[in-house]
Amino acid sequence: MRDITFHIRTYGCQMNERDSEALGCLLEERGWTPAGSEESADVLLFNTCSVRDQAERKAVGKIGFMKKVKKNKPDIVIGVLGCMAQNKGADLLKQLPHVDLVVGTDRIHELPALIERVLEERGKIVRTDTGAEVLGALSQHHHGRVTSFVSVMRGCDQFCAYCIVPYVRGREKSRPIDDIVAEVRHVVENGTKEIFLLGQNVTAYGLAELRATGGLTGAESPFGDLLRAVNDVHGVERVRFTSPHPKYMNEAFIDSVASLPKVCEAFHVPMQSGSDRMLKAMRRGYTAADYMSRIQTLKERLPHATFSTDVIVGFPGETEEDFNATRQAMETVGFDMAYIFKYSPRVGTRAADWADDVPTEVKEQRNQTLLADLEKRTTRTNKAYLNTCVEVLVEGESKRNAATWTGRTRTNKVCIFPPSADVKPGDVVTMRVDRVTANSLFGEITV
Ligand code: 5AD
Ligand code: SF4
Repeated sequence: MRDITFHIRTYGCQMNERDSEALGCLLEERGWTPAGSEESADVLLFNTCSVRDQAERKAVGKIGFMKKVKKNKPDIVIGVLGCMAQNKGADLLKQLPHVDLVVGTDRIHELPALIERVLEERGKIVRTDTGAEVLGALSQHHHGRVTSFVSVMRGCDQFCAYCIVPYVRGREKSRPIDDIVAEVRHVVENGTKEIFLLGQNVTAYGLAELRATGGLTGAESPFGDLLRAVNDVHGVERVRFTSPHPKYMNEAFIDSVASLPKVCEAFHVPMQSGSDRMLKAMRRGYTAADYMSRIQTLKERLPHATFSTDVIVGFPGETEEDFNATRQAMETVGFDMAYIFKYSPRVGTRAADWADDVPTEVKEQRNQTLLADLEKRTTRTNKAYLNTCVEVLVEGESKRNAATWTGRTRTNKVCIFPPSADVKPGDVVTMRVDRVTANSLFGEITV
């Protein structure tokens, strides 16, 4: 087959980014090359997200725009992959008739063969059946990245009332620990220093498998065991993960993260709301006090830990009092980063049957209030870093300004410093902090 160029555009979460990276490697293994731009590609793939309506609309808008491109270049192959492809299936072809391929979340690894079929037969293909062992087939990485993302599980069994993920990504399925450790070893041999473990609900890693064998007591943490195994890989400098579910943050898990030296003390723990009434309606399986007690234990064990979260504002029935409970909880934990989402009903979920009764303006206003709180808080809390020395994993040239370099502290603070001949990406160095903003720490490398 002739030399083919491809371009992958990714929407949504880090799991999608990771799938796209592995898919890009699979296509390169076929001898195809990444195109410089969307317009110059022979094969244009959109890896999509369904979590919020806005995410779907954005992708549909962009793919719709490609109709013009296809008119001028009828041979181009356009594929829609991932969650929206899984969610909408063949309906997407009605909505976007210039699309050639619709490939669901469990079939991404089949894309090279599916694209070749489209190129040969010029027909349309919809492949959304579930159940394939996709994670093992998507273990390829680009070499030389300071941080590598490694998927440890897929799917979600929680069925939170607002969330479409269990419907599009299916049941929780964990990869064997040995496969994950082999993948970690491989990326470390190729230059990686930091491992970021990914899953929709990483603290449930291995639990469905244990339950199936009747061996689940609730006291164990297979994810804690996995962290230990990754921590023990020679050459790994740092380990991070996202996202844990508070319900499964048991003693065994907390003990692992608190005692393993390479696990960074920056935790992203989705809270969703600080109101018990909302948490119950959301079917999150914990109260605000349960959440706080997990955070408190982590703070006691790791006094310098930082915390970030996901919060939904404007869930059905959310009153000013519920919202204030969330605002207060965010202050109590002292989150220094949060993804705040305005509730968006998703067809098929439980909450979609309830009135979306918080007006858009109120959702927006609550969103803005929480964002302003965050900025004020981080401007204040980052001052604690002034005139201290922090350990930085160097990432390289700053994206915004080539004259400066960036890296991160273990607590996930972005550090900005002048480049120096002795410092290269992947080095672990010490920076003396001489200036801070809400978003970054600035200083000089001292060691
Ligand atoms: N509306 C708004 N936010 C949502 N999330 C998931 N589903 C919805 C929805 N229907 C948010 C949650 C989750 C994050 C990935 O997206 O906060 O943690
Ligand atoms: Fe969605 Fe809840 Fe699963 Fe997270 S834990 S993916 S919010 S259902």
